[in-house]
Amino acid sequence: MKEQMDQRILEGARDALRSARSVAVLTGAGISAESGIPTFRGAAGLWKQFRPEELATAEAFAGQPELVWEWYDWRRSLIARAEPNAGHYALVELERRVSKFTLITQNVDGLHRRAGSKHVLEIHGTIWNLRCTRCRREWTEMRVPLPLQRCECGGIARPAVVWFGETLPARVWEEAQGAVKSCDVFLVVGTSAVVYPAAGLVPLARSAGARIVEVNIEPTAYSDAVAYALNGPAGEVLPQIC
Ligand code: OAD
Repeated sequence: MKEQMDQRILEGARDALRSARSVAVLTGAGISAESGIPTFRGAAGLWKQFRPEELATAEAFAGQPELVWEWYDWRRSLIARAEPNAGHYALVELERRVSKFTLITQNVDGLHRRAGSKHVLEIHGTIWNLRCTRCRREWTEMRVPLPLQRCECGGIARPAVVWFGETLPARVWEEAQGAVKSCDVFLVVGTSAVVYPAAGLVPLARSAGARIVEVNIEPTAYSDAVAYALNGPAGEVLPQIC
């Protein structure tokens, strides 16, 4: 019975995507889990018992730059070894088929672009860029491991990602909201959808009348309110529906 229901949901999601002219996608850490990059929340998401909210802030960096840097350096090393997985590639395929496609990601790992996705909005920035805390110069730095860096002006460099309490890059965020408001289908993959403002894209899509498809290994706060909630790993589910 459950299998029949799952099959019906899968087919419904597939049909919705097939007939959509405009698709927006929101991804979170879960899509990169099968590439070996740990998620933020849940048992596997903890690093030395710190929660992301304790490390990913400007205050934490100002107080303990070495500690925060070490956490990011650990993530950079993992990401450098990781490869995009079947979930990332399924979204590349979806982009080829849909006339209007926007991929909004909270991930800073760059794996969507490495897989070949073209229209990607990295609303939380990228871990491969550094920014000077003094003069705000930004540059790309791919070396791993990497000790704490200084800018040529002498200021300490920080990862050019969006931390808790900081605003999202304005133009990128506006474009993300526009894509969500005008899409037929909003596909939400591998996010706990608890971190705002990104999580607000789900109710925004709903109020704009989009059909929402969710792919996650666990139910989220939104699962009951979406048209199709698909329970399973992104690397297995996405190739079946895209
Ligand atoms: P989370 O770690 O909060 O959530 C990951 C989600 O992925 C959970 O809902 C898991 O159930 C799901 N998941 C895990 N493995 C999966 C798989 N193989 N397939 C599908 N789903 C899977 O990550 P995010 O929601 O991305 O922000 O977190 C949002 C933000 O919080 C991040 O961008 C980061 C973090 O702190 C900043 O650093 C500002």
